[in-house]
Amino acid sequence: MPSSTLTLFNLCCNSIMETVVHKLPSFKLLNPTSSSSHYCSTTTTTTRNSKSFRVGSRRRSFSISASASAVREDNPALGSVSLGHITRPDFPILHQEVNGSRLVYLDNAATSQKPTAVLNALQNYYEAYNSNVHRGIHYLSAVGKDEYELARKKERLLSMHRTLERLFSLRMLLKPSICNSCDWLDCGSILLHQFHISSFNFSISITLWLLTNGTNGGHKAFVILTIAEHHSAIVPWQLVAQKTGAILKFVSLNQDEAPDVDKLRQMFSRKTKIVVVHHVSNTLEIVLWAHDVGAKVLVDACQSVPHMVVNVQSLNVDFLVASSHKMCGPTGVGFLYGKSELLSAMPPFLGGGEMISDVFLDHSTYAEPPSRFEAGTPAIGEAIGFGAAIDYLSRLGMQKIHDYEIELAKYLYESLLSVPNIHVYGPAPSENVDRAALCSFNVENIHPTDIATFLDQQFQHGVAIRSGHHCAQPLHRHLGVNASARASLHFYNTKEDVDDFIQALNDTVNFFNSFK
Ligand SMILES: Cc1ncc(COP(=O)(O)O)c(C=O)c1O
Repeated sequence: MPSSTLTLFNLCCNSIMETVVHKLPSFKLLNPTSSSSHYCSTTTTTTRNSKSFRVGSRRRSFSISASASAVREDNPALGSVSLGHITRPDFPILHQEVNGSRLVYLDNAATSQKPTAVLNALQNYYEAYNSNVHRGIHYLSAVGKDEYELARKKERLLSMHRTLERLFSLRMLLKPSICNSCDWLDCGSILLHQFHISSFNFSISITLWLLTNGTNGGHKAFVILTIAEHHSAIVPWQLVAQKTGAILKFVSLNQDEAPDVDKLRQMFSRKTKIVVVHHVSNTLEIVLWAHDVGAKVLVDACQSVPHMVVNVQSLNVDFLVASSHKMCGPTGVGFLYGKSELLSAMPPFLGGGEMISDVFLDHSTYAEPPSRFEAGTPAIGEAIGFGAAIDYLSRLGMQKIHDYEIELAKYLYESLLSVPNIHVYGPAPSENVDRAALCSFNVENIHPTDIATFLDQQFQHGVAIRSGHHCAQPLHRHLGVNASARASLHFYNTKEDVDDFIQALNDTVNFFNSFK
């Protein structure tokens, strides 16, 4: 994705934090056949914030900070060590052997790994202040609620650049009482959902509401999507179409195997009610075209928010969804951003505790957003862990993450092209095209699942990639294949990971070709 259409930021928020110096753990390379110079073992400066909660008569202290990889990165003693090398020590899961060799985790598009800061936040919640939120008046419940609501604010922050810089530099002051008095921090437009999928299904509610409130002159409403959407962005709209008679219109791919934005533009008409697209470089233009005909835009940012700066205000999107588990946070929680005026006008889509104002036997009145859309006990610990993940990413700086991943993406793409008989899907990286650090590919006459199995289990490689349709069957059908293999990277990956992957892939291809 070219970054030109996106507002970029670089957060640095260390000035108000207590700084301590301590030794980072040495990273032990588990694969004895690899060179230990690949990874760093060093002494440097890091930062830690402590927060204490009183539990009964005892006081418990714990760290709420992400490890300060950002600070380590700024240490000139580390020279040109990459972000991947610097952040790897923060991810305990990466330091293990799989099938007799170093784990090389390249399945980040499916889910990301979790840094120690997130693991600690989850453990701290359950150890120190587990309680239901919004229900009790006792101490634990109050702390739980404050931390939960703080997480909501962080989600909003990550997608709102203008407030981000101000807020993250104020992070230590972000006590809920202060936040509550910040009227510019409109948390009402962030819904925390127990499942990311709820956010998409919330879209059913959006459309039903649009259809019943919009004037469509007796015509059936159009919903525009691309054939490259994830199933979770397609299936809810099929349910909408069954219920309302709305017509789903799909945009295909252009010659570069990217969504054909020119064709998409031609599809707009006054009948268009909503456009559903994953976050592409042309999102800004799509929003303009949609708003021109009175349609709304829902952006699936699951694969962009974890890797780059996303600014809902400058994009002017109406709704945007993302998942915690792809952003180094826990599973089971995600968020939906919606413009406040839209959310306020919409009815609830789930019934249950906490989403009401008053309940009578024959009817109920509803709470204001976001509570209106958050029925039942939420995923409290997970939301708090999600907040810790956002802190961690913010300290690294989303722009730094993006820049490093663009470099990794190019390296991955070019390295893959050296493999015989390979087809890598999508446009090549160029001056105008920044690829995400992810490649879906097929190698002639070798099933992608065989490739994934061999990379994992054979030739002492321990490389984790994905194979299958990746929840994008319409896209695969369009490309004329049932499945593809996919290697997807995150900022804690390194070029050595790519080298190991390519070596494993070449070994696998040679093995299968030896039977020809
Ligand atoms: C673009 C996109 N949208 C939606 C999803 C679904 O997210 P979740 O796994 O949280 O349901 C994914 C997951 O792979 C995705 O890549």
